[in-house]
Amino acid sequence: MPAHSDHRWFTSAEEAATGASSFERCLNGLWKFHYARNPSSTPAGFESSAYDTSGWDDIPVPAHIQLQGYDRPQYANVQYPWDGHETLEVGEAPSLFNPVGSYVTTVVVDEAPAEGERLSISFKGAESGIAVWLNGTFIGYGEDTFTPSEFDITDAVVVGENKLAAQVFKWTSASWMEDQDFYRFSGIFRDVMLYRRPRAHLEHLEVSVDLPDPLDRATVSVATELVGDGSVTATLVGVGPLSEVDGVLTVEVDQPRLWSAEDPYLYDLVLEVREADGAVTEVVPQRVGIRRFGIEDGLLRINGKRIVFTGVNRHEFGLQGRVMSREQTEADIQLIKANGLNSVRTSHYPNNSFFYELCDEYGLYVIDEMNLETHAMWDKVAHGVVDVEEALPGDRPEWLEPLLDRAVSMVRRDRNHPSIVIWSCGNESFGGTNILEVSNYFRSVDNRPVHYEGVHWDPRYPETTDMVSTMYTPADDIEAFLKTNRDKPYVLCEFAHAMGNSFGAVDKYLDLAYREPLFQGGFIWDFADQAIALKDRYGRDYFGYGGDCGEAPHDSEFCGNGILFADHTPTPRMQEVKYLYQGFATRINADSVTITNRMLFTDTSAYDAVATLTREGVAVASAGLETAVAPGETETYPLPLSIPQEPGEYAIEVSYRLREATRWAPAGHEVGWEQVAVAVPGVVAPAALPAPEVVDGIHNIGVRGAHFEALFSRLYGGLVSYRYGFTPDGGHELLKSMPMPNFWHAPTSNEKGWGAPFLDGDWLLASRYARPLRDPKNPVVTRLDDSVVLTFAYELPTRPVSGCEIAYRVFGDGRVEVTVKVRPGDGLGDLPEYGMLFSIDADYKALRWYGEGPDECYVDRRGGARLGVYSADVNDMLTPYLRPQESGSRTGVRWAEVTDSGGAGIRFECPGGMEFSALPWSPFEIENAPHAIDLPPVQRTWIRPALMRRGVAGDDSWGAETHPEYRLPATGELVFTFSFVGIR
Ligand code: GAL
Repeated sequence: MPAHSDHRWFTSAEEAATGASSFERCLNGLWKFHYARNPSSTPAGFESSAYDTSGWDDIPVPAHIQLQGYDRPQYANVQYPWDGHETLEVGEAPSLFNPVGSYVTTVVVDEAPAEGERLSISFKGAESGIAVWLNGTFIGYGEDTFTPSEFDITDAVVVGENKLAAQVFKWTSASWMEDQDFYRFSGIFRDVMLYRRPRAHLEHLEVSVDLPDPLDRATVSVATELVGDGSVTATLVGVGPLSEVDGVLTVEVDQPRLWSAEDPYLYDLVLEVREADGAVTEVVPQRVGIRRFGIEDGLLRINGKRIVFTGVNRHEFGLQGRVMSREQTEADIQLIKANGLNSVRTSHYPNNSFFYELCDEYGLYVIDEMNLETHAMWDKVAHGVVDVEEALPGDRPEWLEPLLDRAVSMVRRDRNHPSIVIWSCGNESFGGTNILEVSNYFRSVDNRPVHYEGVHWDPRYPETTDMVSTMYTPADDIEAFLKTNRDKPYVLCEFAHAMGNSFGAVDKYLDLAYREPLFQGGFIWDFADQAIALKDRYGRDYFGYGGDCGEAPHDSEFCGNGILFADHTPTPRMQEVKYLYQGFATRINADSVTITNRMLFTDTSAYDAVATLTREGVAVASAGLETAVAPGETETYPLPLSIPQEPGEYAIEVSYRLREATRWAPAGHEVGWEQVAVAVPGVVAPAALPAPEVVDGIHNIGVRGAHFEALFSRLYGGLVSYRYGFTPDGGHELLKSMPMPNFWHAPTSNEKGWGAPFLDGDWLLASRYARPLRDPKNPVVTRLDDSVVLTFAYELPTRPVSGCEIAYRVFGDGRVEVTVKVRPGDGLGDLPEYGMLFSIDADYKALRWYGEGPDECYVDRRGGARLGVYSADVNDMLTPYLRPQESGSRTGVRWAEVTDSGGAGIRFECPGGMEFSALPWSPFEIENAPHAIDLPPVQRTWIRPALMRRGVAGDDSWGAETHPEYRLPATGELVFTFSFVGIR
């Protein structure tokens, strides 16, 4: 059946109010199922009424068959999933291995359709092709995984039991256009609905809004496509009836309340269809958002205001794959709103209708993307393997019709959603006339701007897109481009590739968006890790990625790029997202606060602003701040607090909170904030104790005080024991291994992506195989009035060799000040990190720190972290990225304590702030584990105080290096000083 709008119809207004229509029935449930590995092994004649399927398996509908024990999930990015298994021409479906699911269910129909009534069955999503029979009669076949395939069954239906049979082919000709970067599944994965259409039926409706300046009056009009002999009337609730003008129903709205993501106000439109005799055949409720979106004066604008997309790409994907419920979707949208994002791109296909309904209601701007991606073919063109003529869909005439069909199916279904502001022609399919036709089609039926990124790669038809769109372009390059190219607004349809420990230097994009009008923001890649919940051989649960289901080819953990984990809980990157995407830019000075309101329609007085003052994590004062900054304006207010005279470090914070609960967060929820640290000098250091005693043995040098003893080994070249406190056995031994300089961490996904480990190898060796200089004068012992210093010299196995020195200055109270110096050999590349590696017993696992947090932060991703005192369990400190990698660090750490259940342990200090992590595993153990379950049993706590770790980067994950200011160049001498002391 032709595509139509996604409205619902009811028998009466009363029925509409219940939300349950007697014209529809959901056919979801357990269906009979037969699995065949290819089309030639399917059960012949299974669709006929005589065929007995009682012995078949049961399968839930909706579901991917690959998550129900058949076939296997396959995660593939660019590569076609069948690539290398079977030689195919473009458009051919694999025949050797190409799973086919045969489905059977019984549909009971109590009443025969009355004269003129129609019955249909709609499969809202079947991957990738579906054939349907009713009572043995072939009804039809459909492709396009992500829009409904609806079949008219009126002529085949009988009163009583009907045998509905369907066959779903994993790969069809359509699959060539469905090469999105995702898990490859098949089956009926969205709802199946049975519909009855009354004799006079509203088959399709199109709501249009005309909202000229000065936006104080709107015309709402509705074009209708009626089937049968009837007429339609409509009322806009609270406004009045619509009247017919040239076959279109219209109504004027005075002083309309405008829809936007900030105030998603919806009007209710109610349509009534009547037969000639006046009897109402159906009532159709339709929500209407009055808004204007488009390119005006060269910029993308919502209700006349320049928009900045603070967006995210979202695959409709959860722990059941692409089988998503409305409830799960609503939970996602609540998270999106609560974290201050304003937009979503439906990468890379139309979603379930309820997604758009929820976006209308919650307020999100949506780029609705057509189901098209031919990435593997585009790769061939891009790499010069084939000519431009072979691009798919390219200019190939035979692909135009199926392509347009997808465009029609999307636009007809979705166009009445005010949340949708842009149509997208698909993803990564190069260019050509066919996609140009698609974009022209969008423009011919609707006034929304059209997006297509492929023009960047194939500029032959620039008119395919109304905006410049690229992905992963560094902010500097965008700025440079816009210096000379000013004819179209610029969006990043994908940026900030959030794979593993990533999302560094994203502030540069936001800075640019608020500096350069033509750069209108972008969409983070992406929303949630796509992973499969699996069990290992010991029955332990884990999240699997490409290859874990035994599939080939695959793209391993490239499916894990979410700002949420696979279970849709936030990753630490969300801390940064929320900070960068907030609607407030706040500058705090000693006595004033300057606030810029980045929102478009909301005054800051809509939020509670609260200023707080803390001293080393302890609240000192708090005061409300009355603000009234109009959208787009900047105002300065006196700081309602003053900084006390008492020496110490203070943090001043201004936080904006919801005054009232919304659908997405409770009252008090924080929507923006800023913090600064201010030091009041004059902290007096405690009086120094006399220098500790030195016990100069043959192989060991002991340094002892009233309740501690440190043992330095001449033999092994370092600090071999540090005991602290009074216990019968002479104090707690705190060290499990000799602290050594450390330059290494388990490579992050981004580091692997840009080839860092290949370049960093010297620093891995340096971290594992440093050796003390063989010299009787090593260590050098220097006695001072208040301390004794033991300086050990090492050489590091880099090429050329690097020099290193660790000086331990031990004070009478047991405090040890450590100064590590490194002189890198000439020509070495920059260091992954620079610090020391300690290991202590795993009983020491309670972590408390005064520094930035609460979540993980790195030098290029610390905007969202705030200074405070935090605590955590060491066992929770390694962030559960899909593949274990460097993670769990904190920046600006002034001190950190790791203690046991009795409160004994060790404290590290670095008043100027260091990077600090305490993890249950060493960097080497982490690097070796493909999944968290592969990490060894916990025996120690590994502590890594560091001057700095290399920034995590993330402009992309396949070549973008850490920005230079966040790296540790191997030049000159590097010096890091910190101290530690026992806690008893
Ligand atoms: C983009 C693509 C996305 C995803 C991403 C890498 O090129 O559009 O779908 O594959 O790269 O994670």
